[in-house]
Amino acid sequence: MEYDRPKDRRHPAASDDASRRLLVSLGGDVEMATATAVPVRQSRMSLSVAMVAVVAAIGGGLFGYDTGVISGAILYIKREFPTDNATEGLIVSAVTAGALAAAMFAGDLADRGGRRLTNIAAGLVFATASLLCAVANSVPTLVAGRFLVGCGIGLTSVGGPMYIAEVAPPRVRGTLVSLFQLAVTVGILLAYIACAILAPAAAWRWMLGLAAIPGLLLAVGMLFMPESPRWLVRRGHRTDARAVLAQIEPHGDPDAAVAQMERDLAAEGHGSWGELLEPSLRPALLVGIGLAVFQQVTGINAVIYYAPQIFQAAGFTSDLTSLAATTGIGVINVLATFIAIWLVDRAGRRPLLIAGVLGMIATLGVLGLAFRANAGGTGTSSLAVITAFSLAAYIVSFAFSLGPIVWLMISEIYPLRNRAQAMAVSTASNWGANFLVSLSFPLMASRLGSSATSFTYAAFGVVTLIFIIAQVPETKGKTLEEISRLWR
Ligand code: BGC
Repeated sequence: MEYDRPKDRRHPAASDDASRRLLVSLGGDVEMATATAVPVRQSRMSLSVAMVAVVAAIGGGLFGYDTGVISGAILYIKREFPTDNATEGLIVSAVTAGALAAAMFAGDLADRGGRRLTNIAAGLVFATASLLCAVANSVPTLVAGRFLVGCGIGLTSVGGPMYIAEVAPPRVRGTLVSLFQLAVTVGILLAYIACAILAPAAAWRWMLGLAAIPGLLLAVGMLFMPESPRWLVRRGHRTDARAVLAQIEPHGDPDAAVAQMERDLAAEGHGSWGELLEPSLRPALLVGIGLAVFQQVTGINAVIYYAPQIFQAAGFTSDLTSLAATTGIGVINVLATFIAIWLVDRAGRRPLLIAGVLGMIATLGVLGLAFRANAGGTGTSSLAVITAFSLAAYIVSFAFSLGPIVWLMISEIYPLRNRAQAMAVSTASNWGANFLVSLSFPLMASRLGSSATSFTYAAFGVVTLIFIIAQVPETKGKTLEEISRLWR
C-alpha cells in the first residue's frame, strides 16, 4: 500500500499559500504547511491514518447492523420455522452469547496473531456467518449462524477500537476511535432501513445475508492496512514499527516513539491473564469494566431494541408512526455521535461523559414522570410527544458520551502488556450486561411498569455519574504510554 510521502510534503513548494491548500486537499498532514501563520485550516491527521480508522470501523458497522437487524427479521423467521418463545429467544440472543465468547478469545488472538489479523478474522467470520444465516434451512443452523455472527461482533469490538487507538496519533485518537461508534450507529440505522425495505417481501434471508458484503470488505481492506506499531514493538519488530510510525506520523519522531514503547515494555514485562488479578492493574480494570457495564445498565438497548414497543405504550398507535419514530431515533443516534467526534479531543472525555450522563438521568426522569402521570391509561397525545422528545434527548446524551467514549477509553487506559486481555474482559462485561438488560427489560416493563423501569435506569445513571466523577481520569492528548503511567 502507498502511504504519504513525508519528504514531498516538506518540499519548499509548500511555502506558498496555493501549495499549502493543495496539500490540504490531498489529505496530507499539513502541520508543516501551516507552520507559518497563514490562514489555512490545520489538518490534524494524515490520510493513511484516517484510512486505517475507516477500514477498521467497518467492523463497527457490522456490529450495529447485526444487532439491529434481528428485530425486523425475526417476524418473518417465525413464519417460516415453527418457533416457541424459547427458540425465538435463542435465535435473538445467540449473537450476544457469541460476542461474549469471542471477546474473551479475541484478547489472545490480538496478542499472538496481531491486531490486524484479529480484524481480518472478524471480517471473514462476519461474511461466512451472514451467508450461513441466509441459507439456513433449520433452526439449529440459524442459531449456529447467529452465534457465529456474534463471534464476529466480539472480535471486532475488541480488535477494532484497540487497533485504531494503537495506530492513531494522540491528538486525534478520540475522534478516530469515535468513528467506530459512528459506524455502529450507522449500522443500526441501515438495519432499520433494510428491514423496512425488505419487509413487504418477507425477505429475512436477505436481511441477514447482506452483511456478508461489508464483512468481505473489512477482511480485504485490512489486508492493505499496516500492523499496529505497538504490537510490532511488543513482538520485537522494531524496524517495522518504526516504518509504520513514519507513515502515520510523518512529522513525529519514530525513533523516540519506539524507544519510549520499548522502555515501557521493559519496565512492565510481558502480560498474562494471571496479571489481571494483580493490585497494580486494579484501578484501570475498575474503570474499564465499570464504564463497560454502566454503558449498558443505563438502558440504551432497552431503547435501541424495543423502541417500537415503547412508542406504542406511549400512544403511537399505528405501526407506521411507531416505525417512523424508531427510524427517527436511529437518525438522531447517528447525528449526535458527530458531537463526540468533534469535541472528544478538544473538550476531553470527562466533560462529555459528565454532561451526557446528566442528560440521560434528566430525560429518564422525565420519561418516568410522564409514564407515571399516565398510569393505567392507554397513552395520550401529550404523553406521546413527551416520550418522543425525552427519548430523542436521551439518545443524543448517550450518543456523545457513553456510546463512543466507553469504546475509546477501554482501548486506551490499559498498559500495552495487558491491553488485549484487559480489553477482552471489559468487552465481555459489556456484552454480559447487554444480555441481562435486553433480557430483563420486557419483564421489568410488564411487572414494574414503564415508569418504574425508567426510574431504575435513571438510578443507575446517578451511580454512573458518581463513578465517572470519582474514578475516571482524563486521557485527552496523552500518548498511550503516558496514560498507562497514570496508574503507577
Ligand atoms: C453500545 C451498544 C448500543 C449502541 C447504540 C454502543 O456503544 O455498545 O450496546 O446498541 O452503542 O448506539
